[in-house]
Amino acid sequence: MNRELDCFRQYLEYLKLSGINEVFISKDSSELPVLSELQSRYQNCRNCVLNENRIKFVYGEGSERAKLVLIGEGPGHDENVTGRPFVGRAGQLLTKMLQAIQIRREDVYITNVVKCRPPNNRNPFPDEIKACLPYLDEQLAIIKPDFLLLLGKVAASALLNMKLTLAEFRENTHQYKGIKTYVTYHPSALLRNPGWKKFAWIDLQKLRDDYNSI
Ligand code: URA
Repeated sequence: MNRELDCFRQYLEYLKLSGINEVFISKDSSELPVLSELQSRYQNCRNCVLNENRIKFVYGEGSERAKLVLIGEGPGHDENVTGRPFVGRAGQLLTKMLQAIQIRREDVYITNVVKCRPPNNRNPFPDEIKACLPYLDEQLAIIKPDFLLLLGKVAASALLNMKLTLAEFRENTHQYKGIKTYVTYHPSALLRNPGWKKFAWIDLQKLRDDYNSI
């Protein structure tokens, strides 16, 4: 039996010895379900057409206590097959980007704006984003991170509701649901344009300094 259960059992025995034979356990309404529970609850989602070609629902992974949540666009082929976000070539680069700022992948939470793969990796349509956003908002309400890092223009436009270029999005930090939000290049864009890595490095260093300051 784990330690908490053991303590609880001892406490109940103590109450019984004190003459208390009944206890009422109220379910705290502010208590939120854990992410793994929600992932299984939502895995057969049919809120938009992206479910039609889905192999796996890619909810997200990482620490529920993460200070930082990384948000991409949507699952690609490898993610659709494995059910895990950012595991293909772009994901391997993302892991290296985190290592470069001394943050372990398992200490952050990684997810996407849409949880099912758009056909041929096209950008998700506005109605698909709209249908999927409640999942992301719920994840953020549970994790309560200090920072978000939006990867690429699709994620930035979807969450920040502004028509800007990626260079413009990168100029400032933003707020999403009261969370300080950074924007940088999507790792797939960096694989196609390695010359942009120096700009991503500038963004990551700013984020790292902020991350380490709290
Ligand atoms: N690209 C994304 O935007 N998300 C993934 O999970 C993988 C690739």
